[in-house]
Amino acid sequence: MDKVQILKERIKEMKSRQLEKGDMILSSLHATQELFDNSIPLEAAKVISDELDVKVERIYELATFYSMYSTKPRGKHLIRLCESLPCHVIEGPKIAKKLKEVLNIDFGQTTKDGLFTLETTSCLGICGVGPVMMIDGDTYGNLTAEKTESIVQKYRGEKS
Ligand code: FES
Repeated sequence: MDKVQILKERIKEMKSRQLEKGDMILSSLHATQELFDNSIPLEAAKVISDELDVKVERIYELATFYSMYSTKPRGKHLIRLCESLPCHVIEGPKIAKKLKEVLNIDFGQTTKDGLFTLETTSCLGICGVGPVMMIDGDTYGNLTAEKTESIVQKYRGEKS
């Protein structure tokens, strides 16, 4: 089954659960990013638009409003480093420097091999274990420069 077909199936399943339309749109955007390497291509936005009977412009409005969604192509793995104050004051900048060095990109960029996109995020709600980053759906806390590098290498190997 291709990605578009899988997306249609997921939306169909949401409809069968009679979720609120707004929830279905956001869940569809989430599902799209899972299927399409962390971004929302026009092709997928049109599927959501057709299936949920919402203008494609509205889908794009939401996709650009929320920072967790992106209409621009991203890497296979999305790394988001928390940049809120509690994480920032405990070694956050050190982790940012390490991530840029290990990935050889700046924030807002994607590695040449298309494997990683590096972004920042606001507080993830687990400040007690800062500094914190999230890779795809997984959260990593108590980061040190060494730990950060080894986590990224793990994604380069096993999870790529
Ligand atoms: S400030 Fe980073 S998780 Fe809250």
